[in-house]
Amino acid sequence: MSEKLWGGRFSQATDRLVEKFNASIDVDKRLYASDISGSIAHLKMMANESIITQDEADKLIEGLGRVKSKMDNNEIPFTDSLEDIHMHVEVALGRESGELAKKLHTGRSRNDQVALDIRIYLKEETLNIIQMLTNFQKALVTMAKKHLDVVMPGYTHMQRAQPVLFAHHLMAYYEMMSRDIQRFEDSIKRVDVMPLGTAALAGTTYPLNREYTRQVLDFGRVSKNSIDSVSDRDFVMEFISHASICMIHLSRLSEELILWSSSEFSFITISDAFTTGSSIMPQKKNPDVAELVRGKTGRVVGNLVAILTTMKSLPMAYNKDMQEDKEPLFDTVDTLKICAEIYTRMLPNIEVHADRMKAACKQGFLNATDFADYLVNRGLAFRQAHSVAGKAVGFALGQNKELDELSLAELQVFSELIEADIYGFISLEQMISRRVTYGGTSFDNVTLAVETAEKELGLI
Ligand code: ARG
Repeated sequence: MSEKLWGGRFSQATDRLVEKFNASIDVDKRLYASDISGSIAHLKMMANESIITQDEADKLIEGLGRVKSKMDNNEIPFTDSLEDIHMHVEVALGRESGELAKKLHTGRSRNDQVALDIRIYLKEETLNIIQMLTNFQKALVTMAKKHLDVVMPGYTHMQRAQPVLFAHHLMAYYEMMSRDIQRFEDSIKRVDVMPLGTAALAGTTYPLNREYTRQVLDFGRVSKNSIDSVSDRDFVMEFISHASICMIHLSRLSEELILWSSSEFSFITISDAFTTGSSIMPQKKNPDVAELVRGKTGRVVGNLVAILTTMKSLPMAYNKDMQEDKEPLFDTVDTLKICAEIYTRMLPNIEVHADRMKAACKQGFLNATDFADYLVNRGLAFRQAHSVAGKAVGFALGQNKELDELSLAELQVFSELIEADIYGFISLEQMISRRVTYGGTSFDNVTLAVETAEKELGLI
């Protein structure tokens, strides 16, 4: 006879390698607190419905309290032979409360139990992540406000395109983070569903009051279909998918920080506390933090592919394959949290070289569009103006000059509409201040965007 909790029908002991292979305790041990609160709620409900007596429930709840503090203090050894956290808690309860512990699993299966545990865990962690992303937004807005007057080249195709405010560029990341937060907030609705009481897959013959359990556990609603309840991992796929998008945003910022801190750009210097040296090249100061955040994006996207592939084609209802959901989920939570936190701490440690950014704006014909706009203002159709400006750029290139370095006489060769006021019109200041379309980079727009964000974040 096997000694396993499920060992009744087995006459042979489990193969040692199978035991190791089958066990998930190394991974799911972190669910112990969720598992215990789920069990407490189950006991309260069973007492309320007279499935067990109140006295039995009280004793078992007390016992679970002791199991919890022992697990908090790492006093309960974990072993592969007990497979997973659910068995560990049950066996530990047996040691605390004796034979009575055998009543805990009435009307319950590990299938609905594990679904509940993950949901309790993920609800809490999603809220933590939203808070951390909000802190990161605060760091972004604070940085934007500090550098409101800094102008940098805006790029398309990684070529200098038009000047923008550095703060406007940072606020683009603020917007990305807002969408990430919205996605996480929305996904909580689908995590906040209470699956316990569906048992293995079909529901149970005991008069369980699932609504009561929901209230004890403070869930938004009860799952509707018992088969779906134990086979649904959409909320895991959804979370990792949102996390992947968020990491992709962070990887884009990483890439920019890495480029900007290179000698080729020299737009920023990241402080010593957030960079590391080389073991061979004494002069090196590497943007490792940004590189690692960029690199860890690969892990999270890998986790997404892992969970999607695990779930693909799984027949109803619970299948052991689903035990593989936790590693990618936990790794995603851990990775996203540390990346958000480290970036929140790193941003204030970045020195911005406004002079270098400004100098970069003055080379590469960032004012060519405005040159065309000048002609449009004087009555030329845009396509014609574009072509005139293009010719002027071509000429300037041949002279090794920028447009504003050409003399008025040289410029007037391209159009008689050009007058001396063109120089002011294509200056950096005016190019920025004219971009007043809603969402554009004008100083007033960006100041307002920063202020609005500060209000949203409760910073002012
Ligand atoms: N450790 C399992 C998991 O994480 C718990 C559910 C196991 N259910 C079962 N019938 N074997 O998926």
